[in-house]
Amino acid sequence: MSRRVAVFISGSGSNMVQLLDSMTGDHPGRPCVVLSNEPTAAGLDKAQARGVATEIIRHQPFSGDRAAFESAVSAALAPYAPDLICLAGFMRKLTGGFTDQWQGRMLNIHPSLLPKYKGLNTHARALAAGDSQHGCTVHEVTAALDDGPILGQAKVPVLEGDTPDTLADRVLVQEHRLYPMVLRRFCAGDRTPVHLTA
Ligand code: GAR
Repeated sequence: MSRRVAVFISGSGSNMVQLLDSMTGDHPGRPCVVLSNEPTAAGLDKAQARGVATEIIRHQPFSGDRAAFESAVSAALAPYAPDLICLAGFMRKLTGGFTDQWQGRMLNIHPSLLPKYKGLNTHARALAAGDSQHGCTVHEVTAALDDGPILGQAKVPVLEGDTPDTLADRVLVQEHRLYPMVLRRFCAGDRTPVHLTA
């Protein structure tokens, strides 16, 4: 039986597209729903164009009550009965109440070589630190932000003259390689970390 995969987004959904498009043929997972907290997220149209159901749960009406927002998310998810959640540019922090419920069944992609640069502005921080290598990480989600067991990393060299935008563009190319590869293995029960280089 295929694993039913829900994908959470907040924006353009380029990682989501890669995940959805990878789940065909003998892949052990199939998308069941794409959920966004942002009604204008461009990724919603891309999911619909691929015939994948979408749900929008705005966070603003919950005025910072994260648990109430997450209850609404859980209620929206329930009819799709997902086995796994992939966070793909989902820009809301999740509480321990939600992450505990999905422990071992929720993945995230983060644009840094964790444990470096948890949180935001990762590309600018890597440049400011003078790093010669940067990259991205797919990890299991736990209650701590951008933490949890690492399932894969892709390294990207920092080049002379890089700006946060040029570096982000090259990291994104590697995100698109790494996340589908990790998801396929994870759906098949393989949690051995993947290591890629650009
Ligand atoms: C990606 O770079 C992803 O790693 C990052 O947001 C971008 C989403 O792009 N995620 C985070 O920063 C989460 N902490 P996408 O919507 O085109 O996939």
